[in-house]
Amino acid sequence: MNSVKVGLLGLGTVGGGTVSVLKRNAKEIERRAGRGIVVTHAAARDLRRVRNCDLAGIQLTDDPFAVVNNPDVDVVVELIGGTLAARELVSKAIANGKHVVTANKALIAKHGNELFAQAQAKGVMVAFEAAVAGGIPVIKAIREGLAGNRIEWLAGIINGTGNFILSEMRDKGRDFADVLAEAQRLGYAEADPTFDVEGIDAAHKLTILASIAFGIPLQFDRIYTEGISKITAEDVNYAEELGYRIKHLGIARRTEQGVELRVHPTLIPYRRLIANVDGVMNAVLVKGDAVGPTLYYGAGAGAEPTASAVVADLVDVVRALTADPENRVPHLAFQPDALADIPILPMSEVETAYYLRMEAEDRPGVLADVTRILADAGISIEAIIQKEQAPEAQHVPVIMLTHRMRERQMNEAIQRIEALGSINGAVTRIRVEYLNKN
Ligand code: HSE
Repeated sequence: MNSVKVGLLGLGTVGGGTVSVLKRNAKEIERRAGRGIVVTHAAARDLRRVRNCDLAGIQLTDDPFAVVNNPDVDVVVELIGGTLAARELVSKAIANGKHVVTANKALIAKHGNELFAQAQAKGVMVAFEAAVAGGIPVIKAIREGLAGNRIEWLAGIINGTGNFILSEMRDKGRDFADVLAEAQRLGYAEADPTFDVEGIDAAHKLTILASIAFGIPLQFDRIYTEGISKITAEDVNYAEELGYRIKHLGIARRTEQGVELRVHPTLIPYRRLIANVDGVMNAVLVKGDAVGPTLYYGAGAGAEPTASAVVADLVDVVRALTADPENRVPHLAFQPDALADIPILPMSEVETAYYLRMEAEDRPGVLADVTRILADAGISIEAIIQKEQAPEAQHVPVIMLTHRMRERQMNEAIQRIEALGSINGAVTRIRVEYLNKN
């Protein structure tokens, strides 16, 4: 049987990795797919740039539409990122009746609903395993492996750059900017690294995970997003002292009132496996009602780990080429007409435990004022540490862990604490999750 011809859009880190993996493992891939899979065409912005792969046998162009419109191309692999050109190119590929594989989380999170509807009408596949957690086959695990479960919650370290920065800061005391520059050099970071450090990239990925876990439409705009840029070395150290690690998590949870969708730094007990996921590695914990908690771990970014997911999607697409469209795995795991309109909870209605750090005057009655405000709000304290005062210091750090409380109540309590004359500046608040069986 003839090989399936792939047209590649983008020859950057992941594009180069995809060419290399397809060439190096060509025989294994053909044994799995039943047909060869060959990159025949590729588009790149700058054709003079030296690439990290062997381009022999690939027809190159600087016009991505020439690839998308080429009748010889069977499957388009979109690896250019961003949402403007990528949206137009993927839409055009679908209109031309071509299957699409993409690693573009922003594209799927923001425009997936419309692209999947278009693909369904055309009877083509749009595969996106590489869009979430790099090389970890977590889309496949949730969409297929856990199909018998009612998924209750998931929580993931889904941005490799952010995890790399937090790990290096904690273990080596390295400077934020210096670690970020290294992540950029290694090709982990987004073109705009604020997407990594401000949680936007993780929010794109959480949008996708929540949709396939709960069978809801993609709703990127409804996610509460907070990054890691305000995490300080002292919070990292106090968290350790209390038996926790700070990780940047994407969390989706089904509750009776609706679905929680949130990305923020989180204290997790250090004994949890996921608290020990360091560097550029990603991990996603998924709790199904039948299976219980399951954990998926691996490289979340980088050329070949991401290429691993792209190539797996290509194999899936090739295997399903002759299947009727209605017999293929639905894009968002649930049949398109069975997606549910479950409300997304505003952050003010979410319940978590909290870590609070404040600078308090060291005199009688100050702690009593703080604890009274928390008690009035119905917030119960689990642990409290008051650090010793340096001789020249006016204030002492006070660190508290609270029991679970609704965010709205905690916001009000924090406002009242910050208004006390004895408290200096803002109260630092980091949410705490236990990630146990419930
Ligand atoms: N910038 C992303 C990360 C790349 O660091 O995780 C993989 O999506």
